[in-house]
Amino acid sequence: MKVWSFSICVLITGGGLVNATFCRCQPDQPCWPTEANWAALNSSIEGNLVAVKPFAYPCHDTEFNAAKCTIVKDNAYNSSYRSSQPSALQWENWEAWPKEDEQCYIESPMSIPCKQGRVSLYSAKVQTAKHVQKAVEFAARHNIKLVIRNTGHDFLGRSSAPNSLQIFTHNFKNISIIDEFVPTVPSGMSAPGGIKAVTLGAGVQLHEMYSFLASKGVMVVGGSANTVGVAGGYVQGGGHSFLGWLHGMASDNALEFQVVLANGSLIFANPYQNTDIFFALRGGGGGSFGVVVSVTVKAYPNYPVVYATVNYTTSVNGPFWKGSDAFHKHIVYLNDNGGSGYYVMIPITLVPNSQSLSTFVLFLAFVNQTSTDAVGKLLSPLRSDLRKATGYEPSLNVVSFPSLSGLYTTLFRGNDTTGMQARMGSRLVSRSFFESANSTQLTEAVSSLKFRPGDAVIGCIVAGGQVAKNRDIESGLNPAWRDTMVHLMITRLMSPNMTFDEQAAIAANITDQEVPLLESLESGKMGAYLNEADADEPDFQQKFWGTNYPRLRAIKASRDPHDLFIVRKGVGSEDWDSDGLCRV
Ligand SMILES: Cc1cc2nc3c(=O)[nH]c(=O)nc-3n(C[C@H](O)[C@H](O)[C@H](O)COP(=O)(O)OP(=O)(O)OC[C@H]3O[C@@H](n4cnc5c(N)ncnc54)[C@H](O)[C@@H]3O)c2cc1C
Ligand SMILES: *[C@@H]1O[C@H](CO)[C@@H](O)[C@H](O)[C@H]1NC(C)=O
Ligand SMILES: *[C@@H]1O[C@H](CO)[C@@H](O)[C@H](O)[C@H]1NC(C)=O
Ligand SMILES: *[C@@H]1O[C@H](CO)[C@@H](O)[C@H](O)[C@H]1NC(C)=O
Ligand SMILES: *[C@@H]1O[C@H](CO)[C@@H](O)[C@H](O)[C@H]1NC(C)=O
Ligand SMILES: *[C@@H]1O[C@H](CO)[C@@H](O)[C@H](O)[C@H]1NC(C)=O
Ligand SMILES: *[C@@H]1O[C@H](CO)[C@@H](O)[C@H](O)[C@H]1NC(C)=O
Ligand SMILES: *[C@@H]1O[C@H](CO)[C@@H](O)[C@H](O)[C@H]1NC(C)=O
Ligand SMILES: *[C@@H]1O[C@H](CO)[C@@H](O)[C@H](O)[C@H]1NC(C)=O
Ligand SMILES: *[C@@H]1O[C@H](CO)[C@@H](O)[C@H](O)[C@H]1NC(C)=O
Ligand SMILES: *[C@@H]1O[C@H](CO)[C@@H](O)[C@H](O)[C@H]1NC(C)=O
Repeated sequence: MKVWSFSICVLITGGGLVNATFCRCQPDQPCWPTEANWAALNSSIEGNLVAVKPFAYPCHDTEFNAAKCTIVKDNAYNSSYRSSQPSALQWENWEAWPKEDEQCYIESPMSIPCKQGRVSLYSAKVQTAKHVQKAVEFAARHNIKLVIRNTGHDFLGRSSAPNSLQIFTHNFKNISIIDEFVPTVPSGMSAPGGIKAVTLGAGVQLHEMYSFLASKGVMVVGGSANTVGVAGGYVQGGGHSFLGWLHGMASDNALEFQVVLANGSLIFANPYQNTDIFFALRGGGGGSFGVVVSVTVKAYPNYPVVYATVNYTTSVNGPFWKGSDAFHKHIVYLNDNGGSGYYVMIPITLVPNSQSLSTFVLFLAFVNQTSTDAVGKLLSPLRSDLRKATGYEPSLNVVSFPSLSGLYTTLFRGNDTTGMQARMGSRLVSRSFFESANSTQLTEAVSSLKFRPGDAVIGCIVAGGQVAKNRDIESGLNPAWRDTMVHLMITRLMSPNMTFDEQAAIAANITDQEVPLLESLESGKMGAYLNEADADEPDFQQKFWGTNYPRLRAIKASRDPHDLFIVRKGVGSEDWDSDGLCRV
């Protein structure tokens, strides 16, 4: 009887509150903030609120503007420009909202009207931590969908959401080097100091950090890109790096976060206070626990580095995969000798004015090494096996740089190639897999995929070494990283000319056929890297966090009880629809 009346009570009150309790407030509803409310928010953040129109709106009817459209088109593939615009994301597909048939693609004809899609309606271009607090409080008070948007690089669409208020962290550009960092502790407590560290504002991008550090003789564990942010999705998701072999994941190296929580308080999280948030921000994923204002990470010397590239080409359907198989048998040896980096396999590479080729390129950095001869020797057995497998002489290029900065400023000159429509799927593949005879199964699996011109399979050799040795670090990071040898990604470009249904078919193939092929290699034992993964990963809790998930879920429940911070496939997102608009 008691149970009955209780559930009726819930039904009745629940019925009246459906919108307020179970869905985010939508612009056509009475709960939506009034003009006066928005103006109050604007003044509370000192005039930094902007109403956002989609990136390509000047290229479409009703608001067509030739001059403005030219600027948009000129910067379509300029990741630096995209990162500076609250309206843009780096992967155009996440600006659209297929479910409502809304898009505003640069490539679609002018006559197709521009629709808002997943682009936020308002952006708080925050300049101070206080501004962040005000925006967080506003979203919570008005039950508005909140988005934290840094550079917009996210591959899973976590930096956009329909009908949302965006916190735009781009302008937090502070970088400082601290010779003797002491964590911030509650009064009455003391913490040991003395570690050299770097504090990075939430909006600092990799190329900015690398060029700043270059003149300071200091390096930190950072990613291989230009405009990806350091303190946002990168470090909070784990963060892999050329420097990982020597010093672990980026998240292993975080010493302290300054963060605004869901209730608007600004706190420090480190091993001495708010340790639950510290645990969660080191690998639990961006956008789920609070708005990070800055992160402090360990500083290291600007090591010398030897950088090697090995490549081979074959005719399409030639002995291409035989080379790949031969390569996989050398990975453990190269990694044990300090090699870390990437290999890219493109089975159909379009060559201008010529026949297509299959191309394989390996980029390996040997950090803290100076001898090009020694690296050449390490690679010589690989080259000989590639020659035997393919019949082609692989090309080799070995260069020594006096510092990692020298390598980074050579590789990263300020612009990533983005602006296309992309999806991917991935799996972490273990060291023991490569040690067994099974590595051949990897080539068999990958070669059975159907490739369009330009489709790539990318292997990231970014674990082993200190990443494996750090297995006792207590953090939210996917424990699978400690056993990983290769983070393997299948990438798929989609044409904006396709219909939403055609694009969905490509995405469904990734989820239903391609990732399961990788999954089966180790019978589901390994997981995936949450920052570079399938946006529809079915069992994401297990795959992205393994045994850490229950603890992350509990931290989320205690620190964000009303689910203000929900991102696609993030901690706690299973209680929400895929847009984060209504509870399910
Ligand atoms: C070209 C390219 C190269 C890459 N190279 C690497 C690499 O070498 N190593 C690697 O590990 N990864 C790499 N990545 C993946 C990268 O780490 C992710 O895309 C990451 O999510 C980017 O974070 P962001 O903050 O720059 O992007 P955004 O898309 O702006 O944000 C990503 C996520 O973090 C959240 N977020 C952003 N800022 C904050 C904040 N201040 N507080 C709380 N949450 C926040 C967002 O809400 C979103 O959920 C690469 C990606 C690309 C596109
Ligand atoms: C916020 O205030 C600034 C400065 O007064 C103004 O330029 C801007 O248009 C306002 N934003 C919105 C969304 O009204
Ligand atoms: C960015 O780089 C890509 C390829 O690396 C290039 O196609 C594009 O034109 C560049 N964009 C800008 C604006 O420099
Ligand atoms: C790309 O955008 C950046 C930032 O807006 C700008 O400084 C740069 O000039 C642009 N590059 C090109 C080639 O237009
Ligand atoms: C950036 O540094 C300046 C000068 O040290 C300081 O005044 C400002 O508050 C800092 N901003 C942030 C967002 O940390
Ligand atoms: C392979 O390496 C050679 C020599 O370093 C270089 O000229 C060529 O462009 C590379 N090919 C590919 C596909 O990267
Ligand atoms: C880097 O190399 C030097 C010289 O070989 C060595 O003394 C030092 O321990 C190395 N550093 C690391 C972190 O391995
Ligand atoms: C190798 O494959 C066999 C059979 O497919 C399987 O039993 C074994 O567990 C695999 N080994 C590894 C390290 O994945
Ligand atoms: C899209 O279609 C247009 C016109 O049919 C064509 O010119 C363009 O190359 C296509 N773009 C892509 C990316 O396929
Ligand atoms: C899906 O995968 C199958 C099997 O590899 C392939 O035949 C089909 O063309 C793919 N479809 C799309 C839309 O990519
Ligand atoms: C916010 O929540 C934390 C616990 O998660 C609590 O310590 C703090 O006092 C709260 N702040 C406010 C302003 O309610």
